[in-house]
Amino acid sequence: MTKIVVFTGAGVSADSGISTFRDSDGLWANYRIEDVCTPEALVRNRAQVIEFYNIRRRELFSVEPNAAHRAIAELEQHFDVEVVTQNVDNLHERAGSTRVTHLHGELMKLRSERNPELIVPIEGWEQTLDARAEDGALLRPHIVFFGESVPMFDAATRIAASADVMIVVGTSLAVYPAASLVRYARAGVPVYVVDPGNPDVAMIRNPLTHIKARAAEGMPALAEKLINELK
Ligand code: APR
Repeated sequence: MTKIVVFTGAGVSADSGISTFRDSDGLWANYRIEDVCTPEALVRNRAQVIEFYNIRRRELFSVEPNAAHRAIAELEQHFDVEVVTQNVDNLHERAGSTRVTHLHGELMKLRSERNPELIVPIEGWEQTLDARAEDGALLRPHIVFFGESVPMFDAATRIAASADVMIVVGTSLAVYPAASLVRYARAGVPVYVVDPGNPDVAMIRNPLTHIKARAAEGMPALAEKLINELK
């Protein structure tokens, strides 16, 4: 069965109403990364960091997966599909995707500040400042901050290397090591990019098709094309 690897970024959730990071109205236009998304920020102003992720988590309860998430989930009816996402939202899972690897963590999980393996689901949207893990340490968002390692990256490179087709949806390909995943596709594997903008595709050596469209339009059309051509 044809293996399709779908590599997604914030743009796949944009049509659900979730802000991207680097578009003109993106998150990083309204917050400084060093204030809310670094280990030093968690030490220096813990309340602001916790509040930033509480706001993003609360937003998650008010949005739904969009046609792009659903089209990606639908591909599983026809192909061997794995999703590797940079997103911390749970919209791929809520749309029905069953094999999702989160490179940058998950909003709906917290972890011990002492033991990164001690990961717990959060009930509701609000993490209180004094919430503690079973090991007694304070809890923190289960998010990969800038400057922290990306524990799932090696697994993601093996997934990318297993693709017969790679689809890249809604990522500027600006953040490493995540962006380098496109280079792990085997030679000759076709790469489809779905993005209305101009992500950094310069490093993609594979046969490349750029579908310049919003994910909610471009992804269903691409899924239909692949189902008609490949199944
Ligand atoms: N449909 C598809 N793509 C879209 C849409 C849309 N409706 N709207 C915007 N895009 C595209 C933009 O053109 C851009 O290429 O989505 C991409 C968003 O890029 P970024 O905002 O940089 O998001 P992302 O690539 O996911 O960022 C990577 O950076 O801040 C860190 O950890 C954070 O995971 C994030 C990482």
